[in-house]
Amino acid sequence: MKKYRIAWLPGDGVGSEVLEATKLVLDALNFNAEYIHGDIGWEFWCKEGDAFPQRTIDLLNNVDAAMFGAITSKPVKAAEQELVPELQGKGLVYRSPIVRMRQLFDLYICLRPTKAYPGNPLNYKDTIDITMFRENTEDMYSGVEFNPVPKELAEVLTKTSKPFERFSKLGLDEYAVSCKVNTRKGSERIIRAAFEYAKNNGKQSVCVVHKANVVRATDGLFFETAKAIAKEYPSIRLDDANVDAITMWLVKNPNNYQVLVAPNLYGDIISDLAAQLVGGLGFGCSGNIGDKLGVFEPSHGSAPKYTGMYKVNPIATILAAKMMLDWLGEKELANRIENATAAVIKEGKVRTYDMGGSNTTLEMGQAIADKV
Ligand code: IPM
Ligand code: MG
Repeated sequence: MKKYRIAWLPGDGVGSEVLEATKLVLDALNFNAEYIHGDIGWEFWCKEGDAFPQRTIDLLNNVDAAMFGAITSKPVKAAEQELVPELQGKGLVYRSPIVRMRQLFDLYICLRPTKAYPGNPLNYKDTIDITMFRENTEDMYSGVEFNPVPKELAEVLTKTSKPFERFSKLGLDEYAVSCKVNTRKGSERIIRAAFEYAKNNGKQSVCVVHKANVVRATDGLFFETAKAIAKEYPSIRLDDANVDAITMWLVKNPNNYQVLVAPNLYGDIISDLAAQLVGGLGFGCSGNIGDKLGVFEPSHGSAPKYTGMYKVNPIATILAAKMMLDWLGEKELANRIENATAAVIKEGKVRTYDMGGSNTTLEMGQAIADKV
């Protein structure tokens, strides 16, 4: 096996704890890799005014894949106040480093498997197996936002849209505009990825999530693109659901869904809901995948209130490492992680607090490492 270069990005809060547990598993597999630490997170925002410094960007340009822990994010004004005094008042604006990373490296697929492992006391149903393809670079995450609204934009809005006439009397700082920007290319590539996955994994249907009846331009484009691409895959059925309805259907009949594909923000929201069906964020793993780089992470946050306690469940991160190995083509190693994780869950002897047990993050990591 070649020796892989893996960027190791613990980030904030419990990020380093869940990565430490994951390392126990990767080492037990004898995965042949050099792990290179990268600086990222709140600490670097406060000290340097940049949560995702250039040296970490350079590192990501020179690795095969990355494991990422978690990030603390705060609203722009609160973030400004935590900068070291020398950097305050310089107009630095906080943006989530993971969102920047996804855009900068064009990690357009956010892959979020939601699989129930039998024996998990937190499962909603033991049979759930849904794979979510979330668009990861555009939509409401485009970063094109205005408050105050520039005069030129205010004029266009007032001219082109009837409802905006009532805003024309407002001051420019009395409203805000966040742009949902979706491209045909961006929609095509995520929808194609979902269909390719369905084809290669024997899934019968792909369900596209949208709100095209109201958000006609952007979601209309997404839905139309899905219909066009579905024609290339005659053996796979295209279903569709409005984003509000899918939250209800996923709770009511989760077994009706195999593959979901959604624009960025809807995918963000639904993937948390889906994670809860199989045990919550302690089980939600995520891959940010582009043509050249894959960055794998748990979908939970930095959990500041548990930081330093080695309490949180590392299974999400361990399953993210499994996704990384799959993506690198190391299928056998990937399967060994999944089988070991499933066995530990089924046995039920080692459980973290979320599962009703009292084992630590590292005890869970070690239990899985012992079974790979
Ligand atoms: C996720 C997270 C991120 C997102 C946050 C941390 C910016 O919720 O990966 O789902 O909104 O994409
Ligand atoms: Mg999220």
